[in-house]
Amino acid sequence: MKIVFVTLFEELLQGALGHSIPQRSQKAGVVEYLFVNPRDFAVNRHRTVDDTPYGGGAGMVLRPIEMAQAIERAVELAGAGSPVVLMSPQGEQLRQAVAADMATLPGMVLVCGRYEGIDERVIATHVDVELSIGDVVLSGGEPAALVVADAVTRLLPGAVGNAQSVEGESFVSARLEHPHFTRPPLAGGRAVPPVLLSGDHARIAAWRQAVSVVRTERRRPDLLMSVPAEKAERKALSRHGSDIEEWLVERRDWQRWWAGRAAPEGAEPTVAGSAPVDDDGSGGKIG
Ligand SMILES: C[S@@+](CC[C@H](N)C(=O)[O-])C[C@H]1O[C@@H](n2cnc3c(N)ncnc32)[C@H](O)[C@@H]1O
Repeated sequence: MKIVFVTLFEELLQGALGHSIPQRSQKAGVVEYLFVNPRDFAVNRHRTVDDTPYGGGAGMVLRPIEMAQAIERAVELAGAGSPVVLMSPQGEQLRQAVAADMATLPGMVLVCGRYEGIDERVIATHVDVELSIGDVVLSGGEPAALVVADAVTRLLPGAVGNAQSVEGESFVSARLEHPHFTRPPLAGGRAVPPVLLSGDHARIAAWRQAVSVVRTERRRPDLLMSVPAEKAERKALSRHGSDIEEWLVERRDWQRWWAGRAAPEGAEPTVAGSAPVDDDGSGGKIG
């Protein structure tokens, strides 16, 4: 797969892609990362590609001609069947299912905006999809494009040593993954679930499935609504056995932490902090 980034800051991406799974995948020929800099299409002496917005206002806008030419070059590099994806806080939110679709493509172009964004006319003529990584504004599209490239790369055949490790992950089948434990068997006064030390693979699998579905119900009931529980899962949901409950750590939520922190005197509540704490009915207890 060819992932072509249109970016003014290639070095930001090169650094992150030079490690771990993206680096190994590149070396193994599973993926190729390519870069197109809009500055290479600049026509002025200073190689600038931004300008002030029509109508006035703060900030700068990436110019349409140079951006269009850069995207056209990137499309040539990515090859046929490769969508042009603009990273934008106004786009559709990235999900695992989107990443999985993208992983089946021969390539893609990831366009990184900067400043106030890119001229709207280029979006109309050159962009197929706008993707957001969440309801938050970044200073540039590079961190968002990295998120997409990383999420897609690890799904490519041959990218991850043990393919099973991506198969059971959160969101893959509309469930959150079970919790993980490693040596030593006792840490911080807490033991490892005994079933995981039993060596009984069938029991371990059943336990993991049960914890996974109960955890999903508590943390992300929307996922459970999208793919209803099957028989074994329904059994786990109706059971209140200590073999599950004991290991379900309550989600560490921002609002809860924010509400309970020692706020500096006179501090005004923020939108997030003033929102009601989402009570899951657990009364703050584990399980
Ligand atoms: C400062 S932002 C521009 C925000 C824009 N003026 C707005 O209010 O919608 C600059 C660039 O960062 C990228 N960006 C910022 N937040 C993002 C997000 N949540 N997801 C994807 N890209 C984002 C986009 O490429 C965007 O063009």
